[in-house]
Amino acid sequence: MQHKLATTATPINDTLTKRWSCRAFDAVKPVSQDQVISLAEAARWAPSCFGDEPWRFIIWNRNRDTASWQRAFDCLVEWNQNWVKNAPILILVTANSIFRKNDKPNAWGQYDTGAAAENLCLQAVSLGLMAHQMGGFDAAKIRGEFGVPEQFTCMAMIAVGYQGEETVLNDELKELELAPRERTALGEHFFEGAWGSPIQKK
Ligand SMILES: Cc1cc2nc3c(=O)[nH]c(=O)nc-3n(C[C@H](O)[C@H](O)[C@H](O)COP(=O)(O)O)c2cc1C
Repeated sequence: MQHKLATTATPINDTLTKRWSCRAFDAVKPVSQDQVISLAEAARWAPSCFGDEPWRFIIWNRNRDTASWQRAFDCLVEWNQNWVKNAPILILVTANSIFRKNDKPNAWGQYDTGAAAENLCLQAVSLGLMAHQMGGFDAAKIRGEFGVPEQFTCMAMIAVGYQGEETVLNDELKELELAPRERTALGEHFFEGAWGSPIQKK
């Protein structure tokens, strides 16, 4: 089983170091409802512009409602279905485009919703679970299937479960699972004082 810890210039929070997007999920080990509520609580306590909490999540647990999980699964692109088939929890992440308090456009709804989703992913790690976010799904299909109102943008789906052995994956996915994780050098995306000026480590 891979751990693929982040390599960092200086130590960072342990949960951040451990988070990564595995594709090999344990096909039989269930996620408890207590764990699911814990994931939702972590997302709920994300910060948001004006405290608007613009996110809405739909959670499907294959062990509680197999038919609905299957309907959500059927909205994924085929490539993702190849590995998500083993994950017991599926989540849809949506962002409100309108502020609740004044019905005006919310330019930060997607920003806040991304923060809530990352909170959920990190909570998964702290529970010993894995979470893998996906853009590869049919947003129009899932909106229609589950009646997501137009003012909410379907941002991502997330697969959650216990990590499994790489042997559950086909050869192409196994190769990805075993490949090292990569990031651009710190100074390429993090500037100091001016645009394009790489941050200095000392
Ligand atoms: C918004 C978003 C969409 C993604 N879409 C997919 C996807 O459709 N399929 C997939 O296998 N991985 C998907 N990923 C996972 C990324 O490929 C992964 O996060 C990235 O390669 C960095 O790897 P790490 O999460 O292990 O650090 C997505 C991640 C994010 C945040």
